Amino acid sequence: MTRILTRRNSHSGGLAGAFCFLVIPLTTVFLSPQAPPAAPPTLRALAASHQITIGTAVPTHLLSEPDYTAILTSEFSQLEPENEMKFAPIHPRPDSDSQPFNFAPADALVAFAHDHGMLVRGHTLVWHKQVPDWITKKDFTAQQLAGVLHNHIRTLVSRYRSKVYAWDVVNEAFDADGSLRNTVWSSRPGIDAGPGTKFIEQAFRWAREADPASKLFYNDYDTEEINAKSDAIYAMAKDFNQRGVPLDGVGFQAHLTLKFNDPAKLESFAKNLDRFAKLGLELHITELDVRLDDSAPASVAAQARLYGEITSICVRQPTCKLIQTWGFTDKHSWIPGFFHGQGWALPWDETYQKKPAYEALRSALH
Ligand code: XIL
Repeated sequence: MTRILTRRNSHSGGLAGAFCFLVIPLTTVFLSPQAPPAAPPTLRALAASHQITIGTAVPTHLLSEPDYTAILTSEFSQLEPENEMKFAPIHPRPDSDSQPFNFAPADALVAFAHDHGMLVRGHTLVWHKQVPDWITKKDFTAQQLAGVLHNHIRTLVSRYRSKVYAWDVVNEAFDADGSLRNTVWSSRPGIDAGPGTKFIEQAFRWAREADPASKLFYNDYDTEEINAKSDAIYAMAKDFNQRGVPLDGVGFQAHLTLKFNDPAKLESFAKNLDRFAKLGLELHITELDVRLDDSAPASVAAQARLYGEITSICVRQPTCKLIQTWGFTDKHSWIPGFFHGQGWALPWDETYQKKPAYEALRSALH
Protein backbone atom coordinates (compact mmCIF):
# COMPACT_ATOMS: atom_id res chain seq x y z
CA MET A 1 0.00 0.00 0.00
CA THR A 2 2.79 2.42 0.90
CA ARG A 3 4.50 1.68 -2.38
CA ILE A 4 1.37 2.34 -4.41
CA LEU A 5 0.80 5.69 -2.73
CA THR A 6 4.43 6.75 -3.22
CA ARG A 7 4.29 5.94 -6.93
CA ARG A 8 1.01 7.73 -7.35
CA ASN A 9 2.44 10.84 -5.72
CA SER A 10 5.62 10.92 -7.77
CA HIS A 11 3.73 10.44 -11.04
CA SER A 12 0.73 12.60 -10.49
CA GLY A 13 -1.35 12.45 -13.67
CA GLY A 14 -0.35 11.41 -17.19
CA LEU A 15 -0.10 8.05 -18.92
CA ALA A 16 3.20 7.12 -17.26
CA GLY A 17 1.66 7.61 -13.83
CA ALA A 18 -1.33 5.46 -14.69
CA PHE A 19 1.00 2.78 -16.08
CA CYS A 20 3.08 2.67 -12.91
CA PHE A 21 -0.03 2.58 -10.78
CA LEU A 22 -1.16 -0.57 -12.53
CA VAL A 23 2.19 -2.29 -12.91
CA ILE A 24 3.82 -1.77 -9.55
CA PRO A 25 1.17 -3.49 -7.46
CA LEU A 26 1.20 -6.49 -9.80
CA THR A 27 4.96 -6.87 -9.59
CA THR A 28 4.71 -6.46 -5.85
CA VAL A 29 2.31 -9.35 -5.64
CA PHE A 30 3.93 -11.72 -8.13
CA LEU A 31 7.63 -10.95 -8.14
CA SER A 32 8.64 -9.50 -4.80
CA PRO A 33 10.89 -11.87 -2.85
CA GLN A 34 9.53 -10.28 0.35
CA ALA A 35 6.04 -11.70 -0.15
CA PRO A 36 6.14 -15.52 0.01
CA PRO A 37 2.76 -17.24 -0.15
CA ALA A 38 1.13 -17.22 3.28
CA ALA A 39 1.45 -20.56 5.15
CA PRO A 40 -1.94 -22.20 5.71
CA PRO A 41 -3.22 -21.70 9.25
CA THR A 42 -2.23 -24.32 11.80
CA LEU A 43 -4.72 -26.43 13.76
CA ARG A 44 -3.80 -24.33 16.78
CA ALA A 45 -4.77 -21.07 15.03
CA LEU A 46 -7.96 -22.51 13.59
CA ALA A 47 -9.07 -24.06 16.88
CA ALA A 48 -8.41 -20.77 18.67
CA SER A 49 -10.84 -19.02 16.37
CA HIS A 50 -13.56 -21.27 17.87
CA GLN A 51 -12.22 -20.86 21.44
CA ILE A 52 -11.30 -24.53 21.29
CA THR A 53 -8.05 -25.92 22.65
CA ILE A 54 -6.25 -28.50 20.53
CA GLY A 55 -4.11 -30.88 22.53
CA THR A 56 -2.10 -34.05 22.30
CA ALA A 57 -0.60 -36.61 24.69
CA VAL A 58 3.16 -36.22 25.03
CA PRO A 59 5.81 -38.42 26.69
CA THR A 60 8.80 -36.55 28.11
CA HIS A 61 11.44 -38.46 26.16
CA LEU A 62 10.19 -37.12 22.82
CA LEU A 63 10.90 -33.51 23.79
CA SER A 64 14.45 -34.10 22.57
CA GLU A 65 13.29 -34.99 19.04
CA PRO A 66 13.30 -31.77 16.97
CA ASP A 67 10.98 -33.05 14.20
CA TYR A 68 8.50 -33.98 16.90
CA THR A 69 8.63 -30.73 18.86
CA ALA A 70 8.42 -28.59 15.71
CA ILE A 71 4.95 -29.99 15.01
CA LEU A 72 3.94 -30.14 18.66
CA THR A 73 4.60 -26.46 19.30
CA SER A 74 3.21 -25.10 16.06
CA GLU A 75 0.06 -27.18 15.73
CA PHE A 76 -1.06 -27.74 19.33
CA SER A 77 -2.08 -25.38 22.11
CA GLN A 78 -2.04 -27.98 24.90
CA LEU A 79 -0.14 -31.05 25.97
CA GLU A 80 -1.13 -33.79 28.37
CA PRO A 81 1.52 -36.00 29.97
CA GLU A 82 0.94 -39.43 28.40
CA ASN A 83 2.09 -41.33 31.50
CA GLU A 84 4.17 -39.00 33.66
CA MET A 85 1.41 -37.90 36.07
CA LYS A 86 -0.11 -41.36 36.52
CA PHE A 87 0.23 -42.91 39.95
CA ALA A 88 3.09 -45.38 39.45
CA PRO A 89 5.32 -43.09 37.38
CA ILE A 90 4.93 -40.05 39.63
CA HIS A 91 4.56 -41.74 43.04
CA PRO A 92 6.65 -44.90 42.66
CA ARG A 93 7.60 -45.36 46.31
CA PRO A 94 5.62 -45.40 49.59
CA ASP A 95 5.24 -42.20 51.57
CA SER A 96 7.55 -43.59 54.24
CA ASP A 97 10.40 -43.50 51.67
CA SER A 98 12.72 -40.49 51.64
CA GLN A 99 11.71 -39.81 48.01
CA PRO A 100 8.21 -41.12 47.39
CA PHE A 101 7.61 -38.96 44.32
CA ASN A 102 9.31 -38.69 40.94
CA PHE A 103 8.28 -35.30 39.65
CA ALA A 104 11.09 -34.62 37.18
CA PRO A 105 9.51 -36.06 33.98
CA ALA A 106 6.17 -34.33 34.64
CA ASP A 107 7.92 -31.10 35.60
CA ALA A 108 9.84 -31.17 32.31
CA LEU A 109 6.56 -31.37 30.37
CA VAL A 110 5.04 -28.54 32.39
CA ALA A 111 8.12 -26.35 31.82
CA PHE A 112 8.14 -27.14 28.09
CA ALA A 113 4.47 -26.23 27.78
CA HIS A 114 5.04 -22.98 29.65
CA ASP A 115 7.99 -22.06 27.39
CA HIS A 116 5.84 -22.61 24.31
CA GLY A 117 2.63 -20.97 25.45
CA MET A 118 0.78 -24.26 25.77
CA LEU A 119 -1.75 -25.37 28.37
CA VAL A 120 -1.26 -28.52 30.45
CA ARG A 121 -4.05 -30.96 31.25
CA GLY A 122 -3.34 -33.33 34.14
CA HIS A 123 -3.89 -37.07 33.73
CA THR A 124 -4.83 -38.84 36.00
CA LEU A 125 -5.30 -38.96 39.78
CA VAL A 126 -7.46 -42.05 40.30
CA TRP A 127 -7.22 -44.97 37.88
CA HIS A 128 -7.08 -48.74 38.26
CA LYS A 129 -4.08 -49.03 35.93
CA GLN A 130 -0.46 -48.02 36.47
CA VAL A 131 -0.91 -48.32 40.22
CA PRO A 132 2.45 -49.12 41.89
CA ASP A 133 3.22 -52.44 43.54
CA TRP A 134 3.70 -50.74 46.89
CA ILE A 135 -0.07 -50.25 46.83
CA THR A 136 -1.37 -53.34 45.03
CA LYS A 137 0.95 -55.79 46.80
CA LYS A 138 0.38 -54.50 50.31
CA ASP A 139 -2.62 -55.14 52.52
CA PHE A 140 -3.79 -51.65 53.34
CA THR A 141 -6.96 -51.16 55.30
CA ALA A 142 -9.55 -49.00 53.52
CA GLN A 143 -8.78 -46.21 55.96
CA GLN A 144 -5.05 -46.38 55.29
CA LEU A 145 -5.68 -46.40 51.56
CA ALA A 146 -7.85 -43.30 51.93
CA GLY A 147 -4.90 -41.58 53.59
CA VAL A 148 -2.59 -42.62 50.75
CA LEU A 149 -4.95 -41.37 48.03
CA HIS A 150 -5.74 -38.13 49.86
CA ASN A 151 -2.04 -37.36 50.19
CA HIS A 152 -1.43 -38.28 46.53
CA ILE A 153 -4.19 -36.00 45.26
CA ARG A 154 -3.26 -33.14 47.58
CA THR A 155 0.43 -33.35 46.64
CA LEU A 156 -0.07 -33.42 42.86
CA VAL A 157 -2.90 -30.93 42.59
CA SER A 158 -1.24 -28.38 44.84
CA ARG A 159 2.20 -28.79 43.21
CA TYR A 160 0.74 -28.03 39.78
CA ARG A 161 -1.69 -25.34 40.95
CA SER A 162 -1.96 -22.61 38.29
CA LYS A 163 0.13 -24.78 35.93
CA VAL A 164 -2.37 -27.56 35.23
CA TYR A 165 -5.68 -25.94 34.28
CA ALA A 166 -7.73 -29.16 34.28
CA TRP A 167 -7.39 -32.61 35.82
CA ASP A 168 -8.77 -36.01 34.97
CA VAL A 169 -9.54 -36.65 38.61
CA VAL A 170 -11.04 -40.07 38.02
CA ASN A 171 -10.45 -42.20 34.94
CA GLU A 172 -12.40 -45.26 33.73
CA ALA A 173 -14.31 -46.06 36.93
CA PHE A 174 -17.26 -47.75 35.18
CA ASP A 175 -17.65 -51.07 33.39
CA ALA A 176 -19.43 -51.35 30.04
CA ASP A 177 -22.73 -52.33 31.68
CA GLY A 178 -22.75 -49.16 33.78
CA SER A 179 -21.78 -50.81 37.04
CA LEU A 180 -18.79 -49.56 38.98
CA ARG A 181 -15.54 -51.32 38.20
CA ASN A 182 -14.09 -53.23 41.13
CA THR A 183 -10.70 -51.69 41.76
CA VAL A 184 -8.29 -51.04 44.57
CA TRP A 185 -9.84 -47.57 44.96
CA SER A 186 -13.52 -48.51 44.76
CA SER A 187 -13.73 -51.79 46.63
CA ARG A 188 -10.51 -53.82 46.93
CA PRO A 189 -10.33 -52.57 49.69
CA GLY A 190 -11.60 -49.15 48.53
CA ILE A 191 -11.02 -45.84 50.30
CA ASP A 192 -13.65 -46.11 53.00
CA ALA A 193 -15.87 -43.46 51.42
CA GLY A 194 -19.21 -45.26 51.43
CA PRO A 195 -21.23 -47.02 48.75
CA GLY A 196 -21.46 -46.50 44.98
CA THR A 197 -19.89 -43.37 43.55
CA LYS A 198 -18.90 -42.01 46.99
CA PHE A 199 -15.23 -42.77 46.39
CA ILE A 200 -15.36 -40.71 43.18
CA GLU A 201 -17.06 -37.88 45.03
CA GLN A 202 -14.36 -38.02 47.71
CA ALA A 203 -11.59 -37.77 45.10
CA PHE A 204 -13.23 -34.70 43.55
CA ARG A 205 -13.61 -33.05 46.96
CA TRP A 206 -9.94 -33.65 47.79
CA ALA A 207 -8.88 -32.25 44.41
CA ARG A 208 -11.00 -29.12 44.90
CA GLU A 209 -9.55 -28.59 48.37
CA ALA A 210 -6.05 -28.63 46.87
CA ASP A 211 -6.86 -26.21 44.04
CA PRO A 212 -10.04 -24.16 43.98
CA ALA A 213 -9.39 -23.02 40.41
CA SER A 214 -8.48 -26.01 38.26
CA LYS A 215 -11.27 -27.72 36.30
CA LEU A 216 -12.06 -31.18 37.55
CA PHE A 217 -13.02 -33.87 35.04
CA TYR A 218 -14.34 -37.40 34.99
CA ASN A 219 -12.86 -39.23 31.95
CA ASP A 220 -13.77 -42.54 30.29
CA TYR A 221 -13.79 -44.56 27.03
CA ASP A 222 -16.65 -46.10 25.03
CA THR A 223 -18.86 -43.37 26.44
CA GLU A 224 -19.19 -41.34 23.25
CA GLU A 225 -22.55 -42.86 22.41
CA ILE A 226 -25.62 -43.01 24.59
CA ASN A 227 -25.25 -46.45 26.18
CA ALA A 228 -25.29 -48.13 29.59
CA LYS A 229 -21.91 -46.73 30.55
CA SER A 230 -22.57 -43.14 29.48
CA ASP A 231 -26.00 -43.38 31.16
CA ALA A 232 -24.29 -44.28 34.44
CA ILE A 233 -21.84 -41.39 34.11
CA TYR A 234 -24.67 -39.06 33.23
CA ALA A 235 -26.62 -40.16 36.33
CA MET A 236 -23.55 -39.58 38.48
CA ALA A 237 -22.90 -36.16 36.93
CA LYS A 238 -26.51 -35.13 37.51
CA ASP A 239 -26.36 -36.28 41.11
CA PHE A 240 -23.02 -34.49 41.69
CA ASN A 241 -24.40 -31.39 40.07
CA GLN A 242 -27.48 -31.37 42.32
CA ARG A 243 -25.46 -31.92 45.47
CA GLY A 244 -22.67 -29.49 44.65
CA VAL A 245 -19.90 -32.08 44.24
CA PRO A 246 -17.14 -30.19 42.40
CA LEU A 247 -17.32 -31.82 38.96
CA ASP A 248 -16.60 -29.30 36.19
CA GLY A 249 -16.50 -31.47 33.14
CA VAL A 250 -16.56 -34.83 31.43
CA GLY A 251 -13.90 -36.23 29.11
CA PHE A 252 -14.73 -38.56 26.25
CA GLN A 253 -11.60 -40.48 25.31
CA ALA A 254 -12.70 -41.35 21.75
CA HIS A 255 -10.33 -44.24 21.04
CA LEU A 256 -12.25 -45.16 17.91
CA THR A 257 -12.29 -47.58 15.00
CA LEU A 258 -13.89 -47.07 11.59
CA LYS A 259 -17.06 -48.70 12.96
CA PHE A 260 -17.81 -45.34 14.52
CA ASN A 261 -18.11 -43.84 11.06
CA ASP A 262 -21.83 -44.54 11.10
CA PRO A 263 -24.54 -41.85 11.02
CA ALA A 264 -26.47 -43.43 13.90
CA LYS A 265 -23.39 -43.55 16.13
CA LEU A 266 -22.36 -40.01 15.25
CA GLU A 267 -25.84 -38.74 15.95
CA SER A 268 -25.85 -40.54 19.28
CA PHE A 269 -22.50 -38.92 20.12
CA ALA A 270 -23.87 -35.44 19.36
CA LYS A 271 -26.98 -36.11 21.48
CA ASN A 272 -24.89 -37.49 24.30
CA LEU A 273 -22.74 -34.35 24.36
CA ASP A 274 -25.93 -32.32 24.37
CA ARG A 275 -27.33 -33.96 27.48
CA PHE A 276 -24.07 -33.51 29.40
CA ALA A 277 -23.89 -29.90 28.20
CA LYS A 278 -27.35 -29.26 29.63
CA LEU A 279 -25.97 -30.14 33.07
CA GLY A 280 -23.67 -27.13 32.70
CA LEU A 281 -20.55 -29.25 32.26
CA GLU A 282 -17.53 -28.52 30.08
CA LEU A 283 -16.89 -31.28 27.56
CA HIS A 284 -13.49 -32.47 26.35
CA ILE A 285 -12.54 -34.98 23.69
CA THR A 286 -9.48 -36.23 25.48
CA GLU A 287 -7.74 -39.12 23.69
CA LEU A 288 -8.88 -39.16 20.08
CA ASP A 289 -7.36 -41.72 17.73
CA VAL A 290 -8.83 -43.87 14.97
CA ARG A 291 -7.01 -47.16 14.67
CA LEU A 292 -6.91 -49.00 11.35
CA ASP A 293 -6.25 -52.57 10.24
CA ASP A 294 -4.13 -51.38 7.32
CA SER A 295 -2.87 -48.21 5.72
CA ALA A 296 -4.65 -48.67 2.37
CA PRO A 297 -5.78 -45.36 0.81
CA ALA A 298 -9.45 -46.24 1.39
CA SER A 299 -8.85 -46.86 5.10
CA VAL A 300 -6.88 -43.67 5.48
CA ALA A 301 -9.62 -41.72 3.68
CA ALA A 302 -12.35 -43.22 5.89
CA GLN A 303 -10.24 -42.36 8.93
CA ALA A 304 -10.01 -38.77 7.74
CA ARG A 305 -13.80 -38.57 7.41
CA LEU A 306 -14.22 -39.79 10.97
CA TYR A 307 -11.67 -37.32 12.36
CA GLY A 308 -13.61 -34.61 10.53
CA GLU A 309 -17.01 -35.75 11.87
CA ILE A 310 -15.84 -35.93 15.49
CA THR A 311 -14.23 -32.51 15.24
CA SER A 312 -17.32 -30.97 13.64
CA ILE A 313 -19.53 -32.36 16.40
CA CYS A 314 -17.31 -30.70 18.99
CA VAL A 315 -17.21 -27.43 17.06
CA ARG A 316 -21.02 -27.38 16.88
CA GLN A 317 -21.39 -27.98 20.63
CA PRO A 318 -20.58 -24.70 22.42
CA THR A 319 -19.47 -26.38 25.65
CA CYS A 320 -17.03 -28.72 23.87
CA LYS A 321 -13.76 -26.94 24.52
CA LEU A 322 -11.02 -29.44 23.78
CA ILE A 323 -10.09 -31.72 20.93
CA GLN A 324 -7.10 -33.76 21.97
CA THR A 325 -5.45 -36.61 20.08
CA TRP A 326 -3.57 -39.40 21.87
CA GLY A 327 -0.23 -38.58 20.27
CA PHE A 328 -0.05 -37.13 16.78
CA THR A 329 2.35 -39.26 14.75
CA ASP A 330 2.10 -42.94 13.83
CA LYS A 331 5.79 -43.10 14.73
CA HIS A 332 4.84 -42.85 18.41
CA SER A 333 1.42 -44.27 19.23
CA TRP A 334 0.20 -46.63 21.93
CA ILE A 335 -2.06 -48.48 19.46
CA PRO A 336 0.28 -51.11 17.93
CA GLY A 337 1.41 -52.16 21.41
CA PHE A 338 -2.14 -52.54 22.74
CA PHE A 339 -4.27 -53.61 19.75
CA HIS A 340 -2.52 -56.43 17.94
CA GLY A 341 -2.28 -55.84 14.18
CA GLN A 342 -3.79 -52.37 14.33
CA GLY A 343 -2.17 -48.97 13.99
CA TRP A 344 -1.97 -45.92 11.69
CA ALA A 345 -4.28 -44.14 14.12
CA LEU A 346 -3.01 -40.54 14.07
CA PRO A 347 -3.02 -37.49 11.75
CA TRP A 348 0.72 -37.59 10.91
CA ASP A 349 2.42 -40.72 9.54
CA GLU A 350 5.66 -42.38 10.74
CA THR A 351 7.76 -39.89 8.77
CA TYR A 352 5.88 -36.84 10.06
CA GLN A 353 3.99 -36.32 6.82
CA LYS A 354 0.47 -35.00 7.20
CA LYS A 355 -2.21 -37.59 6.45
CA PRO A 356 -5.72 -36.93 5.09
CA ALA A 357 -6.89 -36.94 8.74
CA TYR A 358 -4.87 -33.77 9.27
CA GLU A 359 -6.63 -32.02 6.39
CA ALA A 360 -9.97 -33.23 7.73
CA LEU A 361 -9.21 -31.76 11.15
CA ARG A 362 -8.27 -28.53 9.47
CA SER A 363 -11.42 -28.33 7.34
CA ALA A 364 -13.63 -29.12 10.33
CA LEU A 365 -11.97 -26.31 12.28
CA HIS A 366 -12.38 -23.77 9.47
C1 XIL B 1 -1.76 -45.38 27.66
C2 XIL B 1 -0.41 -44.83 27.20
O1 XIL B 1 -0.55 -44.24 25.93
C3 XIL B 1 0.61 -45.93 27.16
O2 XIL B 1 1.91 -45.41 26.89
C4 XIL B 1 0.64 -46.69 28.50
O3 XIL B 1 1.52 -47.77 28.41
C5 XIL B 1 -0.76 -47.16 28.88
O4 XIL B 1 -1.64 -46.07 28.88
N1 XIL B 1 -6.76 -44.58 28.33
C6 XIL B 1 -6.07 -43.66 29.08
C7 XIL B 1 -4.64 -43.42 28.81
O5 XIL B 1 -6.68 -42.95 29.89
O6 XIL B 1 -3.93 -43.06 29.97
C8 XIL B 1 -3.97 -44.64 28.19
O7 XIL B 1 -2.64 -44.29 27.85
C9 XIL B 1 -4.77 -45.09 26.99
C10 XIL B 1 -6.16 -45.47 27.38
